[in-house]
Amino acid sequence: MIIAQISDFREAARRRLPRFLFEYMDGGSYAETTLRKNVDELSDIALRQRVLRDVSQIDVSTELFGQKLALPVALAPIGLAGLNARRGECQAVRAAERAGVPFILSTVSACSLDEVTKAAAKPFWFQLYMIRDRAFMKDLLAQAMAAQCSALVFTVDMAVPGSRYRDYHTGLSGAGDLKGSIWRLLQALARPDWAWDVGLMGRPHVLGNVVPVMQGKSSIGDFFAWMRDNFDPSITWRDLDFIRSEWKGPLIIKGILDPEDALEAAKLGADGIIVSNHGGRQLDGVLSTAKALPPIADAVGDQLTVLADGGVRSGLDVVRMLALGAKGVLLGRAWAYALAAQGEAGVAKMLALIEAEMRVAMALTGVTKISDINRTILAANPA
Ligand code: FNR
Repeated sequence: MIIAQISDFREAARRRLPRFLFEYMDGGSYAETTLRKNVDELSDIALRQRVLRDVSQIDVSTELFGQKLALPVALAPIGLAGLNARRGECQAVRAAERAGVPFILSTVSACSLDEVTKAAAKPFWFQLYMIRDRAFMKDLLAQAMAAQCSALVFTVDMAVPGSRYRDYHTGLSGAGDLKGSIWRLLQALARPDWAWDVGLMGRPHVLGNVVPVMQGKSSIGDFFAWMRDNFDPSITWRDLDFIRSEWKGPLIIKGILDPEDALEAAKLGADGIIVSNHGGRQLDGVLSTAKALPPIADAVGDQLTVLADGGVRSGLDVVRMLALGAKGVLLGRAWAYALAAQGEAGVAKMLALIEAEMRVAMALTGVTKISDINRTILAANPA
């Protein structure tokens, strides 16, 4: 299949993955309104075409949290992405490294911190959830420090999980374990390439970081039950003091959608925030990130570094997010689709596409470096 754009990776992923995995990755919560708005309202942001401004030399590199990046993007934490390709997170971290951008390993990744550390040549970022079992959390934090992770992303928009209807239709949620297992096995058998490459040769299919607290249970259903039962709804800003004091490196709070919460994060002493609605997978009906971002960036100013994600499907979208006030942009489904479609090479190609598209967007809006991207490159949107 010819890959010219990110949506081609999505189609290739749809053809290769068992249905339960594709729908898990592709879907959002409830009526998926926010998922759609993330994409539509971002691509609706009109860029301002400028001409005759010598755009022969364009520099797409930047610096975030003291780290030099070849592009102002990072690969967002995606739970279970490792099942999209054989030992998937290990492939993705290598592609990110080669492209000079951070890879963010999810708490609920398939490959463990240890396995990804061994696959990587350089430090990556780690994403942590607030989990009821604080001893387990402290242990993960210690592992991330030992792995010399160069930033901690702490996700705060998962106090309770949003319902994803597609997962009920595929048997990933709700089905009794035996029924669910048989249903998923049939879906896997309908995708022989994946079944061989990942299903058979890519085992174990576990949440690598969670295995030690699973007491021997190991089916996907068991891991999903663990996720449902172990996110902590009692968490408050005060619980984060503990994280701030334990973690000496850059601390980035992910899942901020409101200016008042952004200011709380600054008060906590966070180095950054990620304006995010979890890719439209938590509370459906909340603002798209394209709409939420500008007032948040205005509210916090230079107090911390604002990153954003949600609905980014091209390099043009990256430039739009930067223009709306982000200093860096996380790519979520974009890399998960690319990994499913073509493994490490797919993620590398996806990042190359993003870079090429960014260069065109910058050239035709008349900017030559990332720090020059701001709201002046946006056309006044007709109201
Ligand atoms: C996610 N996201 C996520 N976030 C997080 O902090 N920890 C996680 O484990 C996951 N897991 C996860 C799984 C899947 C399948 C998806 C699609 C998303 C949210 C993710 O980091 C990011 O915020 C969104 O994916 C951004 O939106 P786009 O780029 O996918 O539209």
